[in-house]
Amino acid sequence: MQQATTQAPTTPYEMIGGMDVVGEIVNRFYDLMEQDAAYAKLRALHAEDLSPMRSSLTGFLAAWLGGPNDWFTERPGRCMMSAHRDVAIDPAVAGEWAAAMTRAIGDSPVEPALGAKMAEALSSLATNMIKRQ
Ligand code: HEM
Repeated sequence: MQQATTQAPTTPYEMIGGMDVVGEIVNRFYDLMEQDAAYAKLRALHAEDLSPMRSSLTGFLAAWLGGPNDWFTERPGRCMMSAHRDVAIDPAVAGEWAAAMTRAIGDSPVEPALGAKMAEALSSLATNMIKRQ
């Protein structure tokens, strides 16, 4: 049987362009958070140095999109929900997260229809993290 030499992308991670594009989205997301007052409440919840977050969110999103799973395997038991256990997430701040991520994806080279699906799924994730006061 003849083997195909090129294969169509099979995961969202491959479809969006892999780690370079994931990193571009994440860097844009935290740049917006640092530079635009629309995300001031969200910024205030984070530590002064956002570089560990740039790296961690890149790893998480890569795995979430079906790419390398290192974020989960390098620290067994690591959980995104427990990482937010002590974070006061109200509807306004979840809305800032979703808006900044939607904008960061929109500014990236991701194909618009796929980007819209990705932004919608991540916005739902943010909404589901809202805590009852
Ligand atoms: C809903 C609104 C959200 C708020 C207010 C929020 C806030 C935070 C804060 C304050 C931290 C700790 C950062 C620090 O120490 O500087 C954090 C960590 C993190 N957040 Fe969020 N977050 C939200 C939603 C999300 C969503 C939807 C995702 C994933 C799609 C996400 C992924 C992460 C990751 C991967 C970490 C780092 C965890 C680790 O390295 O152990 N966050 N977040």
